[in-house]
Amino acid sequence: MISIRLFFISIFFLFLSNFSLAAKVTLDSSGWGLEEGKSCVECHSKSSSGLTHQWRNSAHAQANVNCLDCHQAYEDDNDAIEHEGHVIATIVSPKDCGRCHEVEYKQQKGSVHVKAVSFLKNNMPLLAQHFGGLAGNNSGCAKCHGSEVKMRGDGTLDPATWPNTGIGRINPDGSKGSCSACHGRHQFSKAQAREPSACTHCHTGIESPDKAVYETSKHGMLYAAHRDEMNLKSDQWVVGKDYSAAPTCVTCHMGTAGKMKSNHDVGMRDAWNLNSPVSEKQYLIIFQDGDKRELSTTEALPRRGETIKKLDGTEAKVKMVASPKRRRQAMMKSCLECHSKGFTKNSMQQFDDFVELYNDKYGKPAKAIMQALYDNNLLTPLAFDEPIEHTYWALWHNEGTRARHGAAMGSANMAWWEGMHEVATNFYGKFLPQVKELAGKKGDEIIKEHILESEYHEWLNRTQEATNVLGFTKESNDEN
Ligand code: HEC
Ligand code: HEC
Ligand code: HEC
Ligand code: HEC
Ligand code: HEC
Ligand code: HEC
Ligand code: HEC
Ligand code: HEC
Repeated sequence: MISIRLFFISIFFLFLSNFSLAAKVTLDSSGWGLEEGKSCVECHSKSSSGLTHQWRNSAHAQANVNCLDCHQAYEDDNDAIEHEGHVIATIVSPKDCGRCHEVEYKQQKGSVHVKAVSFLKNNMPLLAQHFGGLAGNNSGCAKCHGSEVKMRGDGTLDPATWPNTGIGRINPDGSKGSCSACHGRHQFSKAQAREPSACTHCHTGIESPDKAVYETSKHGMLYAAHRDEMNLKSDQWVVGKDYSAAPTCVTCHMGTAGKMKSNHDVGMRDAWNLNSPVSEKQYLIIFQDGDKRELSTTEALPRRGETIKKLDGTEAKVKMVASPKRRRQAMMKSCLECHSKGFTKNSMQQFDDFVELYNDKYGKPAKAIMQALYDNNLLTPLAFDEPIEHTYWALWHNEGTRARHGAAMGSANMAWWEGMHEVATNFYGKFLPQVKELAGKKGDEIIKEHILESEYHEWLNRTQEATNVLGFTKESNDEN
């Protein structure tokens, strides 16, 4: 039994790493260095010298990969234009990079990132429409999530949809994502992409407060102090070998640790969904064709070889299923290079307990109460037209997300003061009063059913403190 388990664990780690074992450029050198590309460099040294200078300092220039090697147009490029005697495409899509970097392209192609515009859960698209409008989306949501790039009649790119390097951008050749979301052009450096800032220009703010979380964590503290010891330029960037001062986003979410190789799918090692009204642990389903999707542990689990629906509605065969436990083990591989097993497991326990507390105390009852309000026709089905819908949104989406991300990545401030504390202030001070105001007697009933009978909110029934559950001791002369 144990050995069968071990077998599957190693299969998953092998899956995490197998592509990368062969992580080298896949075309031989005769496949690039196009002679005609030299004229591009010559002219662009004058017409856009900054850009050309960056290219000159890149690994590409050193390996003789020139402008045309990347910008030449293929049959599926709807954005092909005539330019100085050549047919070129302005957009160099992940598929184009993938001609030489097949490993990274395949990993990126199946990742949660590329789905960031084609599959959006919950009410966000409505929020975008109701609060913003097209121009708001183009300069806001789409800059992080990605646009669907459109062409004008002459093959040039539609200014409503480009420039854009959102993480799930839909490209004219049908591929998704943008490699320069993390690898700034025209250097395309891996050292630069290992910096937290490669992630935090998007992972910041309400939906994904990871910049502030990281900076106020002990890891962020040490990174700031020891950045010059991080060896960011090393070829393989192996935690515990090439660096040890602190982990960055990349260390934990995609980096190499021991035998587990670097992977361009940032979502593989996450056990929970932390951006939903109620968090759920999630299986990762890996299909034969390399695509993936997540399934909550409350849904029926498919078997290997079974055919099920992908997110886009088409069907495919399941190649492998990674349980939340396996995904967690993958995450912990990096911790274990710097921490003991006991320390790491206890840290994860504290995080899981926090998420469960958020779920049971606030997430589930708030969701159930909103459902009861809709079921009793006390709210219109239209999203965001009533004050309580905004209150509820802030509760789980803004404050609740902040709290859970804070607990996941070691920021006490975000977990508590700007997290759970804000959730509670909202829940008791705004959300419940709004339920009463809106629903009168029915509201009282709903609150009684979901709140007053719950052990978590039992304190509301009291007029005086009974027990000191947290074990704090009051100073005897403290009157408060
Ligand atoms: C004789 C000079 C010259 C040559 C040769 C040249 N370019 Fe350009 N290129 C320009 C100028 C000038 C622009 C800016 C045009 C504009 O947008 O006003 C430009 C624009 C571009 C753009 C941006 C197009 C857009 O949609 O904004 C790309 C990409 C590009 N060049 C790539 C190339 C490549 C690849 C080659 C080699 C095949 C090349 N260029 C050869 C002068 C040149
Ligand atoms: C490794 C591949 C690669 C190489 C080599 C490369 N480019 Fe690009 N280039 C890109 C990518 C990726 C973009 C971003 C397009 C997008 O996705 O929106 C881009 C965008 C551009 C743009 C339009 C964006 C802007 O900032 O104005 C121009 C112009 C351009 N490249 C010119 C050049 C020239 C000239 C060279 C050679 C000196 C060159 N490129 C070499 C990949 C490459
Ligand atoms: C500053 C960058 C940024 C902006 C602007 C932004 N998002 Fe996000 N969004 C993110 C990031 C990063 C996540 C991932 C959070 C996570 O998984 O922890 C996310 C998550 C989401 C999710 C939940 C995940 C999913 O796929 O269902 C939705 C929905 C969403 N965003 C929609 C929107 C919409 C609509 C807008 C505009 C109204 C918007 N976002 C604006 C960066 C951004
Ligand atoms: C989410 C950010 C992100 C995106 C998007 C991204 N990369 Fe990377 N890439 C990185 C990071 C970080 C590293 C360094 C990883 C490490 O050291 O473990 C890297 C490393 C690389 C390397 C060097 C690999 C090696 O072993 O030397 C290549 C090549 C590469 N990326 C190509 C791509 C291509 C092609 C795409 C688009 C299909 C892409 N990347 C998209 C973050 C990203
Ligand atoms: C024509 C082949 C070719 C294309 C197309 C190409 N690359 Fe590269 N790339 C190379 C070669 C060759 C190297 C240098 C050898 C190596 O690092 O393995 C390289 C190196 C890299 C590196 C490592 C840089 C470092 O810091 O060491 C990154 C990251 C990268 N490429 C990203 C991209 C991205 C993103 C694209 C698309 C925009 C792209 N490449 C398109 C051939 C290509
Ligand atoms: C251009 C914007 C952008 C950049 C850059 C970016 N991300 Fe994301 N990331 C997103 C968006 C948007 C989502 C939500 C996607 C979705 O749910 O489909 C997301 C989702 C994620 C998730 C959640 C996966 C899950 O399990 O749900 C993780 C982890 C993540 N990103 C890590 C990173 C790391 C690490 C980097 C840097 C190496 C990075 N991201 C760079 C926009 C970005
Ligand atoms: C010390 C390791 C570590 C570092 C450093 C780290 N993370 Fe995380 N991150 C985690 C863990 C653990 C989780 C929770 C995973 C789970 O769901 O089980 C997480 C969760 C996330 C999520 C939410 C995914 C979900 O489950 O919904 C995002 C997005 C994210 N991290 C992005 C980042 C970004 C961006 C950075 C850098 C600013 C970063 N992380 C730094 C370990 C780390
Ligand atoms: C590159 C090494 C490295 C990696 C990888 C790493 N950490 Fe750390 N971590 C440290 C260092 C160094 C400290 C600071 C220790 C100290 O001085 O208290 C730290 C501190 C912490 C703390 C704060 C402890 C306290 O005193 O409150 C927690 C919790 C933690 N790490 C959990 C994790 C988890 C969980 C992971 C994996 C998801 C992880 N770390 C990955 C190096 C690392």
